[in-house]
Amino acid sequence: MSDTPASKAANQMWGGRFASGPDAIMQAINASIGFDQRLYAQDIAGSRAHAAMLAAQGILSDRDAQSIGEGLLAILSEIEAGRFPFTPELEDIHLNIEARLTERIGEAGKRLHTGRSRNDQVAVDFRLWVRDQCDQAIAGLTGLMKAFLQQAEAGADWVMPGFTHLQTAQPVTWGHHMLAYVEMLARDRSRFEDARKRMNECPLGAAALAGTSFPIDRHMTAKALGFDRPTANSLDSVSDRDFALEFLAASSICAMHLSRFAEELVIWSSAQFRFVRLSDRWTTGSSIMPQKKNPDAAELLRAKLGRILGATVALFTVMKGLALTYSKDMQEDKEQVFDAADSLMLGLAAMTGMVSDMTANREVLAAAAASGFSTATDLADWLVRELGLPFREAHHVTGTLVAMAEGQGVDLPDLTLAQMQSVHPGIRADVFGVLGVENSVASRTSYGGTAPVRVHEQIARWAQALG
Ligand code: ARG
Repeated sequence: MSDTPASKAANQMWGGRFASGPDAIMQAINASIGFDQRLYAQDIAGSRAHAAMLAAQGILSDRDAQSIGEGLLAILSEIEAGRFPFTPELEDIHLNIEARLTERIGEAGKRLHTGRSRNDQVAVDFRLWVRDQCDQAIAGLTGLMKAFLQQAEAGADWVMPGFTHLQTAQPVTWGHHMLAYVEMLARDRSRFEDARKRMNECPLGAAALAGTSFPIDRHMTAKALGFDRPTANSLDSVSDRDFALEFLAASSICAMHLSRFAEELVIWSSAQFRFVRLSDRWTTGSSIMPQKKNPDAAELLRAKLGRILGATVALFTVMKGLALTYSKDMQEDKEQVFDAADSLMLGLAAMTGMVSDMTANREVLAAAAASGFSTATDLADWLVRELGLPFREAHHVTGTLVAMAEGQGVDLPDLTLAQMQSVHPGIRADVFGVLGVENSVASRTSYGGTAPVRVHEQIARWAQALG
């Protein structure tokens, strides 16, 4: 392996101590440029802030700082135009850009790395990138919350079956079910907001691990890059990846929520349920079965959590055994976070489209709400309220009536009064009032309950909050 071409020249960035360059396999395992080039904009922003600060502190001449600043902007355009010569010999995005800078502006380029290290450089680049993803997640979640809210508004008081164990439990309203997701997504959003706040400290200036003897101004670079303040401990600054882990954890919980609704869509859009119709824009056909309309987007969304959670576990595993401070293991953080972020943003966009485009089938929902003895609890409550039965006894009487109805292949409201009285003689005709689904949902007026009156209040609250 030792005679591979890459072993020829010693590295131009630290070659002083080396007689030869790396083995080709070493280069392959070591180089991160294949993926960390995604950090180019953050790397350039960090370097520009660093150079400006060095000049302000008299560590770098204004002329050098100016040509560094301009050179970096030119490189930014080069990269964005797809004209930048990325090379694995230069390992990562930091060295690629720095080498190119020196190529373009000469001597001054070699002064940029004064008072910093790739350790604080990658820490600041990655933080900036993850911070931006938090903002994107927050925006994506807001859009999705609005889509659910619109669905809630459209059918605030439509009745549908509520499930536990995926068995019909009690009738609920469509608006209530949609708002359940708004609540979940609001928690997701606050997790990203919270993580963003905590990660908004600037590690630049921690240098390799110990800080630097140059009179740098870390408050200045922190401010220039939109951070609240510099990090307070240089060792922690270069070894911390909590911000990435928090982003992944928040993403995992969010993706789990998306997956749960995706599962509901898969069930609801089936021929057996027909609760909703998904639009053609979010479904696919079958190459052999002409009748099919498959909920592929929902299925893929259900699967995305696998990747995101996988990335979360992977990064925890990378980090858990690392003695302070930086170890190269940490280079393995980026691909996981990139993939998870891509999956999450795509998932949020797809879910927003699906939710906006789906049509609930009001009649089917209403029919399903009335089946499966969904108002049995209302009957038991009536026996308690009107006849003074202890709840346990009411439960038993109702169970007997359900068994009777089931035996006859009918629903509870189809039993005659005489049949009901054969189980409990006190039952009166007005019991039929509570066996209706509309009455059932209207009666659940406790705070947070499914009654249309409560749902309308929550819709108003969210409409206000989401603008
Ligand atoms: N490419 C590296 C990473 O992603 C940058 C930091 C390298 N630092 C070092 N001391 N080798 O982690």
